Amino acid sequence: MKKVQDYFVPWIEGINMYISNHLELAWRDPGLHRMMSNENPYEPSARVLEAINEYGKKANRYPDQGLIVRSEIAEINGLDGPENVMIGNGSSEVFDMLFRCFLEPGQEVIQHTPCFGIYKLRCNILGGKLISVPMIYEDRQLLFDPDAVIDAITENTKVIAIANPNNPTGNFMDPESFVKIAETGIPFVVDEAYVEFGGPEKSQVSLTKTYKNVLITRTLSKAYGLAGLRFGYALGDKDVISRLSATLIPWNVGTIPMWAALAALKDTEGLRKRIEFNNSEIEFIEESLAEIPGLTIFHSHGNYILFDGSDAGKKGADMVNFALEKGVLFRPQAPMYDREGFFRLTIGSKEENRLAVEVIKEFFSTPST
Ligand SMILES: Cc1ncc(COP(=O)(O)O)c(C=O)c1O
Repeated sequence: MKKVQDYFVPWIEGINMYISNHLELAWRDPGLHRMMSNENPYEPSARVLEAINEYGKKANRYPDQGLIVRSEIAEINGLDGPENVMIGNGSSEVFDMLFRCFLEPGQEVIQHTPCFGIYKLRCNILGGKLISVPMIYEDRQLLFDPDAVIDAITENTKVIAIANPNNPTGNFMDPESFVKIAETGIPFVVDEAYVEFGGPEKSQVSLTKTYKNVLITRTLSKAYGLAGLRFGYALGDKDVISRLSATLIPWNVGTIPMWAALAALKDTEGLRKRIEFNNSEIEFIEESLAEIPGLTIFHSHGNYILFDGSDAGKKGADMVNFALEKGVLFRPQAPMYDREGFFRLTIGSKEENRLAVEVIKEFFSTPST
């Protein structure tokens, strides 16, 4: 008799449950300052809390497929209607849905690195092959390389995923490069998780009207500040969205997140306040640390900042450990470009950002061992 292990699809062999150690740690010890997961430091607005309470009372009812919230999202984005919008349990689930529709085992997803880890995770689960095209590290900047992305295309390429602005580098790719990649006809997912911080004019959503292969993903986890609620969405041509939506798990978005998301989307003042605060704090941190010799700061249009302390002889992992001793959680980054100095922080509250600046200054003023 075969063992149960032999019945699993072979490509999930060796893949473990996704666990963010820093999140586990932060929930276990609420005293720690959470500056590691690109969350929003503000709690949900009164309007959102009201919706959570109101629809909590209706939690005995099944949700619909989000017609009202999808209509609102379409309107905000200048699209025809709910048929242009697919909603998910966070944009991570949206990525999963998209990849399932396009990818067979052995086929390829192209990502532009360094980038968010979910493309790799969902590609691996489906037995796909991940192709990582590195950005160019030049003049203390990490630059998009759209030609290299296009050169990486093979007959097996099924999806190209690019975040704009990119996480962790914080920069936008220029609009012409989006057109160039869209012209290949390959499903091209533009991950706009942080686009609200840069403003609606930075969005590539209008491309979906010309290019059926372009899909935009968004989330309420970042500028809207609802990471724990799990709500994300995809925008695209209605025929494409319809094919993708056919694969959705029924009731994939719960009643509470759906209606809380609607309240957040309507709370334009709450969004404006969060964006203004974030962007002025980015400026504060970047200016406060600009004079540290050997510290490269990657100017960010998101709610996080990437640093490279290699030229100061510092390791990112040591910075993260040093901050942890002071009660602050930063995010380590794997070594890249033969450099070990990378680390990232997320914008916290006003007090946390000032604390973070002091911690970084202290670490960089201590001689390396
Ligand atoms: C670029 C990018 N896309 C998507 C996400 C995932 O967001 P969600 O909470 O909607 O799954 C993140 C989260 O950090 C991200 O950095």
